[in-house]
Amino acid sequence: MEPDVLAEIGAIVGEKNYSNRVAELYAYGFDASIHHVTPDVVVQPRTPEQVAELVKLANKLKIPIVPRGAGTGLCGSAVPLEKGMIIDLTRMNRIKEIRVEDLYCVCEAGVVYDDLQKALAKHRFSFPPAPGSAEACTVGGMVATNASGMRAVKYGGTRDYVLGLKVVLPTGEIIEVGTRTLKNASGYQLERLFVGSEGTLGIITEVTLRIAPKPKKSAMILAGFNTLEKAGRCVSALIAKPLLPSAVELMDSTCIKAVNTVVDAGLPDVEAICMIEVDGDPKMVADELAEVVKVCESIGAIGLQQTEDSAQMAKWTAARKSVMSSLSRLYEDRCSVSLADDMAVPISRIPEAVVEFRKIAKKYDVIVGTYGHAADGNLHTKMLLDPESDTAWRNGEKAVGEIFDTCIRLGGTVTGEHGVGISKAPYFQKERATMLSTMGAIKRALDPNNIMNPGKLQAWEGSILTHLRYPCDEYCEKS
Ligand code: LAC
Ligand code: ZN
Repeated sequence: MEPDVLAEIGAIVGEKNYSNRVAELYAYGFDASIHHVTPDVVVQPRTPEQVAELVKLANKLKIPIVPRGAGTGLCGSAVPLEKGMIIDLTRMNRIKEIRVEDLYCVCEAGVVYDDLQKALAKHRFSFPPAPGSAEACTVGGMVATNASGMRAVKYGGTRDYVLGLKVVLPTGEIIEVGTRTLKNASGYQLERLFVGSEGTLGIITEVTLRIAPKPKKSAMILAGFNTLEKAGRCVSALIAKPLLPSAVELMDSTCIKAVNTVVDAGLPDVEAICMIEVDGDPKMVADELAEVVKVCESIGAIGLQQTEDSAQMAKWTAARKSVMSSLSRLYEDRCSVSLADDMAVPISRIPEAVVEFRKIAKKYDVIVGTYGHAADGNLHTKMLLDPESDTAWRNGEKAVGEIFDTCIRLGGTVTGEHGVGISKAPYFQKERATMLSTMGAIKRALDPNNIMNPGKLQAWEGSILTHLRYPCDEYCEKS
């Protein structure tokens, strides 16, 4: 980047708050996806006004911008496809207000989810979406990707908690959308427009979130099954009962084996498990536990275990949370890559979906670990493949296409939880064909110079095997 532009950036944020050092640029070329592109400059503003000045400068010079939280996204939303400027919002990390009597809190975009949870827990409140990356991810990133996690079936995802936002538009104008009230019928619900926009429409600098009281008690059940399909049937039987557990996590035998091998979690050695959590008032928890047990038994669960002990529940939850990293360590010559990683189908179609995924994996010689938040229909598959082999990537891509086609055929979506980024863009376009031109029109209206995270979502062209972070021959980052 030209020295005079760097000098202007320095004048806005201060000399210490930007960098074009090679190592730093390289590090900021990653998020947690399979992709990597090195940006030209990384800037760490402290105020919305600094963000606005940076955006005005970029808009004048047509420099691409990618806003970024903790970089925990799994599909490349924060990878700067066209290089340019990364705006790292993690220095804007003040919790500005917690108003439990009004059921809201106000945070700068860079507040880490777990830090907010700790602050809310002091009041016995919570911001419930609980993404897998809770220790690191930021609330701004959660809004930009509409993040969610294990408890979405009962408590919803980030979009269900966004009351208002402060946003720097691509022209540098600062706007406030939404309210601090729980109800708001005032015109276009623009705060929703930025939910899931993945940095393509503006930069979220502040979020006003609805908060919820923490449940008084929770308990968990671990149910084993001798087929994956039965575990899937258990999930829809629970929902249809009707029961509303706070989480139902499904894990197949590959995931169970990985977790037992790597973190010694002591999960039963079966074809599949459902890890079920219920929460609420103590009496309600006891009643729901009994009902959940009955449903599991009716589907033929084996080795049912249940606990209200917080240490045991923490152990099971930690085992579940370690699936992704454990899968990567299961085989010497394969690692787990985020391909087709967060589809969602209508809950009752889960048994069909998981059986189909297995067939597809076999066909393309990729190992697929299937797990996920099955009670809201959201499944994760991680592919285990040799990341240095072009053939393995090609097979992986074919398997991805078929997995996504299956989900769409079953009435589902290619991404329920992690967003589109690069890794899902062509399939997202296929799924949402009729809304792409409307998205394009909104994008052009707000970002006439196309500086905000260009080339993503509806604008993506090409295959997902682009700018791979791995040292394969054909598909690795070409810069
Ligand atoms: C999880 C992440 C991958 O549920 O969404 O583990
Ligand atoms: Zn998840």
